[in-house]
Amino acid sequence: MVDATIGHGSHSYLFGITLGSEGVIVGLDVDENAIRRAQLKLKDLACKVILVHSNFSQISEQIRAQGIEEVDFILADLGVSSAQLSDVELGLSFQTNMPLDMRIDQRLKTTAADIVNTADEKFLADLIYRFGQDRASRRIARFIVRHRCREPIATTVQLAAIVCRALSRPGQKRKPRIHPATRTFQALRIAVNNELENLERLLVSAPSLLRKNGRIAIISFHSLEDRLVKKDFKQNEDKGIYKIITKKPIVPTQEEIGANPRSRSAKLRIAERR
Ligand SMILES: C[S@@+](CC[C@H](N)C(=O)[O-])C[C@H]1O[C@@H](n2cnc3c(N)ncnc32)[C@H](O)[C@@H]1O
Repeated sequence: MVDATIGHGSHSYLFGITLGSEGVIVGLDVDENAIRRAQLKLKDLACKVILVHSNFSQISEQIRAQGIEEVDFILADLGVSSAQLSDVELGLSFQTNMPLDMRIDQRLKTTAADIVNTADEKFLADLIYRFGQDRASRRIARFIVRHRCREPIATTVQLAAIVCRALSRPGQKRKPRIHPATRTFQALRIAVNNELENLERLLVSAPSLLRKNGRIAIISFHSLEDRLVKKDFKQNEDKGIYKIITKKPIVPTQEEIGANPRSRSAKLRIAERR
């Protein structure tokens, strides 16, 4: 199997304990720290574990480089881990003050600070609208540009405060359901890490890697990702390539959301190669 987002190796561990010595797990991750953590977690499994510091957009090349032609299972649990959210070096969270970076893969060149300090106002507004689905995108972009004329935007808390100012309404009584900066941060993270493009590449590569009856399972955390997965599975079903296993996505129970609030937006979709 391929775990395209090995993270801490928790999912792979659960699969790995059911595999014998003939089983092989190839794990990919763009974060080198994740690879190191997963190595520790998976070190006592009976099956073979191969961990590669790679983007899953390169899944075909990486699997073939291991001399593997076909696999039984591809798993991708998209987004970032809780450890990454609190990692000061990655600069993903507005809950703690961090340098505004957002590159999960340190080999990438452009940071979120580069984008907010150099992109023109229309580009910023379009980005926040498209990837953050925030209807106030133009106003947020205007506030960002106005602020950076006075001083560069260098930290996550600084950016969150600018977005809050852009969205605050005098006399507003009700507290918003999500933090006002959530959508802008999502948009920048998607842009910095090319998240949607990478997912599209993974989806395009999967059919030629999966053996007959092999399965692909994708857990997504926002509607832009879920829409891509849903559309790809449906198109491949229409072409006779996949059979969709989950007519409706599998979502967490209230009990799971209670125990793990970050799971609240997770959607799992599974398809089987014909
Ligand atoms: C939600 S965590 C996965 C947790 C994992 N399932 C576990 O059991 O510990 C998502 C992981 O995917 C990685 N990731 C995100 N985008 C990636 C990409 N395009 N290619 C490879 N890894 C990626 C992140 O670095 C992160 O470690």
